[in-house]
Formats: sequence, structure tokens, C-alpha cells
Amino acid sequence: MSELLLSVDKVTAGYAQDIDVLRDVSLDVHAGEISGLIGLNGAGKSTVVKTICGFLSPKAGGIRFMGQDIAGVAPHKLIDHGICCIPQESSLFPYLTVEENLLLPLQGRSGRYGSVVKQRYEEALEAFPTVREKRRAQAGDLSGGQQKQVEFAKAWLQQPKMCLIDEPSIGLSPKLAEGVFDWIEKFAKAGMGILLIDHNVRRVVKMSDRIHVLSLGRITASGRQEDFQGDLHEQVKQWLGLNF
Ligand SMILES: Nc1ncnc2c1ncn2[C@@H]1O[C@H](COP(=O)(O)OP(=O)(O)OP(=O)(O)O)[C@@H](O)[C@H]1O
Ligand SMILES: [Mg+2]
Repeated sequence: MSELLLSVDKVTAGYAQDIDVLRDVSLDVHAGEISGLIGLNGAGKSTVVKTICGFLSPKAGGIRFMGQDIAGVAPHKLIDHGICCIPQESSLFPYLTVEENLLLPLQGRSGRYGSVVKQRYEEALEAFPTVREKRRAQAGDLSGGQQKQVEFAKAWLQQPKMCLIDEPSIGLSPKLAEGVFDWIEKFAKAGMGILLIDHNVRRVVKMSDRIHVLSLGRITASGRQEDFQGDLHEQVKQWLGLNF
């Protein structure tokens, strides 16, 4: 069994005092594995990410990373714990260049990062030719799909232990989206734990080691791929009430 990284335990959270968007949500992420979180629009998937990343504080329940309580840790402090987030919306600074965006989070971290950054930077430029081509451009001048590629290159450079990835294929052509899914698998193979959310449910289910289903803010099914008996795609359709 691979190392448990993230444990979300019975978390209740929301944006307003009296309205709970998430209720009793429990899920986990293990090193070198992909945990897929699936659910309909508005189910609360991004709210799960925002709660883990410290944009929201849980009203109840706990969030532990490698045994440490991280509930309410400020978003900019998460990388100190080895956690990186690729949000549904862009997290780039639009008036900085692509290169500045890539290197900014690494400042002051030379001890841990110095020796491998150069190699990872080259790997990132190799994997995403657009990032290489546009590295001197202002990030805000890139298209949504191009910015997503910069986000991935940035995450790779930070060498996190866990990466939370919300809707990576949104706005990408099928070919680019496939490239991004390959990149996520590369992250996991490098030992990173991944929490993956994407509207391409079929793709998420196929590539995930663990699957968590969120319906109206509650986890309604959860387990390892191999623990689900029968036709998993049929079950997913039923869980989500969908035809795809
Ligand atoms: N900033 C906010 N303030 C108040 N309510 C919000 C906010 N963001 C989201 N919500 C509400 O929380 C619920 C869950 O939203 P969330 O964005 O987590 O869903 P999601 O599963 O990520 O959906 P999608 O698949 O469309 O991205 C929705 O009812 C939404 O209206
Ligand atoms: Mg969302």
C-alpha cells in the first residue's frame, strides 16, 4: 500500500455561515496515485479543493497531510508542506512574463530546489513547446489553454509531494487535453499524489487509482478501482444520473 498523504475526514464547509456546501466529506490521496473526484456541475468539487487549499476553513472535520493538521493553513504556505494546486481558474500573474511566473515560487528555496530546477525547467519547456515559445510574453496575453500549460510547468518546477488539479482539460483541444492527462500520469509516476477533477469523467475514471463520487456536497461512493465490482462505467453513469 502506498503512503497516505492527504486525509480529508468528515469535512463540512461552505461559503456562508448557515449554508453547508460540503457535508461530511471524506477522501484520501496516496503517494504515486491518482484520486479522481467526480460529480455533476455544482456538486462541490472545486469547494473541496478550496477547502484543502485554505481558501475556506472547515466548519467541522479534519484535514491532515502526512500526519500534520493543515486545516486552515494559508494558501501561500501550502507549498512549504509540499502541496501544489492547479486551480480551475488561472493562478498566473497576468503582468509578469511566463518565465517570471514559473520562477517566482522558487525564490528563496535554493537549498531544496537549486540542483534540479534547471533540469526540470528544461523538461517543462520540452514537454510544453508553447511555454518555451512564449516564455518572454506576459502571461495574461496567452490563451486559456496556453496558460494551463504554464500552470503545469510551474507545478513541475515546484516538486510538490501532492498536486490538486481542478479541471485541467477545460478549454483545451482534444489533442492538448490528452497531453495534459499524460503529464498528470507522469506526475504520479514521479511519486506525486494527485487529486484530479475533470469534466471528462470517462478519462478520470480510466486513469484514477481511487475514485470518489461527490453528489450535492456528499461523498456517495468511494474506493479503489479494483474494489468496484462489475462495469464501472455503468456504475458511474448511475451515480451521476448521466448518459455519456
Ligand atoms: N464563492 C462562492 N460563494 C458562494 N457560493 C459559491 C461560491 N463558489 C461556489 N459556490 C456554490 O457552491 C456550490 C458548489 O460549487 P463548486 O464550484 O464547488 O462546484 P463544482 O462541483 O466545482 O462545479 P463545476 O463542475 O461547475 O466546476 C455551488 O452551489 C456554487 O453555487
Ligand atoms: Mg469546479
